[in-house]
Formats: sequence, C-alpha cells, structure tokens
Amino acid sequence: MADVLSTKETLDLFDRYVVANYGRLPVVIVRGEGSRVWDADGKEYLDLFAGWAVTALGHCHPRLVAAIREQAGQLIYMANHMYTQPQGRLAQLLSEQSFGGKCFFCNSGAEAIEAAIKLARLHTPREKYKVLTFEDSFHGRTFGAISATAQSKYHQGFQPLLAGFEYLPLNDLDAVYGAVDDETCGILVEPIQGEGGVNVCTDEFLQGLRNLCDERGMVLMFDEVQTGVGRTGKMFAYQHSGVVPDIMTLAKHLGGGVPIGAIVAKPEVAASMKPGTHASTFGGNALTAAAACAVLETILDEKLLDHVNEVGAFAMGRLRELQQKQPKIKQVRGIGLMIGIELAVGGAAVFKKCLEKGMLTNCTHDTVLRFMPSLTVTREEVEQGIAILAEALEETE
Ligand SMILES: Cc1ncc(COP(=O)(O)O)c(C=O)c1O
Repeated sequence: MADVLSTKETLDLFDRYVVANYGRLPVVIVRGEGSRVWDADGKEYLDLFAGWAVTALGHCHPRLVAAIREQAGQLIYMANHMYTQPQGRLAQLLSEQSFGGKCFFCNSGAEAIEAAIKLARLHTPREKYKVLTFEDSFHGRTFGAISATAQSKYHQGFQPLLAGFEYLPLNDLDAVYGAVDDETCGILVEPIQGEGGVNVCTDEFLQGLRNLCDERGMVLMFDEVQTGVGRTGKMFAYQHSGVVPDIMTLAKHLGGGVPIGAIVAKPEVAASMKPGTHASTFGGNALTAAAACAVLETILDEKLLDHVNEVGAFAMGRLRELQQKQPKIKQVRGIGLMIGIELAVGGAAVFKKCLEKGMLTNCTHDTVLRFMPSLTVTREEVEQGIAILAEALEETE
C-alpha cells in the first residue's frame, strides 16, 4: 500500500494529517532487509542506527517474521485477566538470562520507566518517594520519564513535573551520598547513557550505588532500554560490571521493532506490585511477546553476542585508525555495538552528508555521532559505513 504513493504524496499526507512533533528527514522508507533499507524512490541506505537502536536482528529477519506470522494466525491478543503462553515463555527467558527476576510487560521504554518508578515507591516505606537520576540521562517522554530525565530541554513547557527527582553528576559517588535522605526511595541510572552521548558509568560508580542502596534500603534501577538485549555484547549491560540492579527496564531491541517494553525485578521487589497497583491493556500481548521470544532465541541460537563483540571491536579499531588521520574526530567511545564518535565539528552536517551518501546514523548532543547498528551487521557493512563517514568528514567544513 505505502509504496504506491510517491515521496511527495506521502509527505503531503503527513503535512495535512500528522502532528509535526518530529524533525523528520524527507525520506519515505518502504522496505528493509538486514542492515539495508530502501526508500520510495528506490534509493538504498545502509542502516547503522537500526531504526532508533531498535531492529536488533536487522530489518525483517526471517525468524522474527515467521514468529509474528505464526502467532498472528493463532492468537494476537487476549487481555491480562487471563494467561497466554508467549508472555509466560518470554518472562522465563528474560528471568533466566538475567538475575532470576519477575517481569511486568508494557509497550515502550517510557512505560517501563513509569512501572519502575511506581514499583520503587510501592516497595519502600510511604515517606520515601524521591528518586535520584543523572545529568544527561534520557528516560523517555511521559511525565514520569521526563521528570526523571535530567535535561532541561525535555522539560520546557511541561512544568510542573512529577515531584521528587534530583539530578546529580554521573560517576560522582560523593554527590550521590550527599543527596540521599530519608525520603529517597531509589536511584535510576543508565549503565551507559545513550541519548546523552554514549557516556559509560564506571564499575566503581555502579558498585557504589549498589552499596548505598543496600545500606539505605533503596531500590537500584538500571534503565537498559537502550543497552539491553545484546547491544553492548552481553545480553544486558549490567553483566559487564556484575552489579545487579533491583529493577531493570527494557524496550527497543526486545521486540526487534515490534513495540514491547518490560521491567525485570528481583522477586522480593516484584512482590510489592499486587493486583490493582499497575496494569497495561496491551502489555505482553501474545503477538509482541512471541516476537520478543523470537528475538531472544535468535540472539542465543545464532551466538549474536559473540558476533557483537567481534564486529564491535573491529568497528572501534577502524574508527580509531580513522581518528589518527582525521582531526575532526576527537574521541571514539562505547562498548559492543553502542559506539559514540565525538566530533570537533557540528554533527548535524556530517549526519546529513552520510544520509546523502546512503547511510543512516544519528547525531546527539550536537557533536556526538552514534553508530548503533543491528546485532547482525557484518564487518563488510561496518567497513562500508566507515568509508562513507570518512568521506563525509572530509567534505564537512
Ligand atoms: C535509555 C532510554 N530509556 C527510555 C527511553 C524511552 O523509550 P521509548 O521511546 O520506547 O518510550 C529511551 C529512548 O530512547 C532510552 O534511550
């Protein structure tokens, strides 16, 4: 249906009928396969951003497509006042792959954050309601999530925000110790900040947060919406440090493009969420849960975590070689296939050049270019992407 419209016709539909809340590029994508997508005019793009770090298995992976087709033919939806098999299977997979927790399912990252904040408040005594979060964090766009997000640009026009959030510098344990009081119920942190510019928490910092939460009876929440489900070369980013959170939020990769979010909570914490305390009509429905099972099983069966480590190290090495020759690259940082390239020039212009040359990346915080390809990206694709980046940098003032 979509590809019978020209680019102009589709853009006109958006102009007339769709809220203009995104700064969109004038490109209409009609098809995807692996790390490639095609627009309505037949132009091919190398997708090194996996949508928005979403298509874990690449576009239209045959196993994901087959799982969705099979489930759609059997049962798409049944409400959460009954049981469905895919939701049970998915919870088991997530629990077994992480820290033996219990799952609540929703439809997005922001909703997972809402659930985590509500559970942290439920699990701690009534007078505790405050949550500490970190500068340059990003947790989503609902009211709870923007209140947790410590970037004023996401607050403009929406005050008053949800009460009880305090923002602290990342990797500064003294600041955290100084901020905790008897009303603090939890700490929420991305083990590696994504939208904030690929800023990595040190192991010492995460361990310090764990110790402090244990000392003060607080809930430690890791936002793994972007880092979770293989992105960093482990199934979850917390597994690099070995510091286990009480609650972990997931979305993005989890459904491989199908909308699903989740929290995984330690059983003793999860027990505080009783019938009636929280709910989601679509959360964990049969169709999206079956898709998420297919994503996780494919990552495990096809040993994609090994692949991420191998290709990620290759990409990082190649980018550092480019950095030696190209002073417009100030730093290359990240882990696995979560890679940030700090530029000495405006990232928007480089991003645009890459787009013209048929490559999709992302620019955040003005000067950080992000490479977050699908877990299935090949060395050749990475090589091609870096060659395009090199040209784009060369041609940017
Ligand atoms: C770390 C993190 N948390 C939460 C979110 C919000 O997820 P969603 O857009 O699915 O609501 C994002 C989205 O980019 C994210 O990167």
